[in-house]
Amino acid sequence: MNDHPDRAAALADLPDLLLPWYDEHKRDLPWRKNTDPYRVWISEIMLQQTRVEAAKEHYVRFLSALPNVRALAECPEERLFKLWEGLGYYSRARNLQTAAKMVAERGFPHTAKEWKALPGIGDYTAGAIASIAFEEPSPAVDGNVIRVLSRLLGDGRDQETLKGAFAEALRPAYPAARRGDFTQSLMELGATVCTPASPQCLLCPLLSRCETRGDSLPQKREKPPRKMTDATLFLFRDGERVALCRRTQGVLRGMYGFFMLEQSMDAEQAAAFLREAGVRGFSLGAPAAHRHVFSHVEWNMTAYPVLLSSPTDLAEVCSPVCTPPEWLDKQTVAREISLPSAFRWCLDLT
Ligand code: ADE
Repeated sequence: MNDHPDRAAALADLPDLLLPWYDEHKRDLPWRKNTDPYRVWISEIMLQQTRVEAAKEHYVRFLSALPNVRALAECPEERLFKLWEGLGYYSRARNLQTAAKMVAERGFPHTAKEWKALPGIGDYTAGAIASIAFEEPSPAVDGNVIRVLSRLLGDGRDQETLKGAFAEALRPAYPAARRGDFTQSLMELGATVCTPASPQCLLCPLLSRCETRGDSLPQKREKPPRKMTDATLFLFRDGERVALCRRTQGVLRGMYGFFMLEQSMDAEQAAAFLREAGVRGFSLGAPAAHRHVFSHVEWNMTAYPVLLSSPTDLAEVCSPVCTPPEWLDKQTVAREISLPSAFRWCLDLT
């Protein structure tokens, strides 16, 4: 890329074209009130996985519950997961807290390189935080920015190649001041004008320079097909209690869920499994089916309500993918436990 002087020139005056546009058109977002590194950091982690509109409400709630890095470092894990509910990928909340413990001890890093050394922070997030909170000239190239630049420059190479190439090409284009705003202006253009479908080219401050003027670039990435997993869930209930497990494997590892086997079972097989595990005095309710799509995996679930006639120890009910079920009262589950959305639909059946 850098060996194309016209391309280098096209990027060199991006700040002059984008910053005035950004000043006029930027959205009023809660993480743009100031550039406190803790606030910027939390917003960038949330925005890795959640759309801006959905992130806004979570962000405000999270910041008022955990207003600084020490509060985050010291937050009990289950409370943190409760605050993270609806944001998906609990491993990100876990990484965030591990990183917060390190930052609470050593102070905030300033450079993108130092940010990248913290758990859960890749090139994009490190570049975004270092430029927005510390005015470093560190590009943050995500899907939005790849889209803007591949269209602007008419560059149809694959997205992985473009990501590295654009990060390098953008670095010298960073202005002497307002570097964080420059990073955000690129994101903002991709999010609001240079959208994946039906871009609003006539409103674009880069229109006169754009090689593409439309949505023909970037090339669509071929995603590998998701792994399909059939699963059987048992929703144990005895009066006002339900039994939950923790996932020991794969997606949602460490999180609460209902007892699960990664195989399909009809009602007869399900009852036979329970009898073999030593469960007595149960009646199986009508099964309900539900599909949950993660990024790389899809669960095709069938859940059986299991009503127990007397208090029963379920310690012998074993699965390769979760711990044996433990009884909790329904109120506690509703108030204190963060149940991932892959399992939350089951609550209506218990
Ligand atoms: N997406 C990722 N980071 C963002 C930010 N700071 N503002 C808006 N959208 C974003």
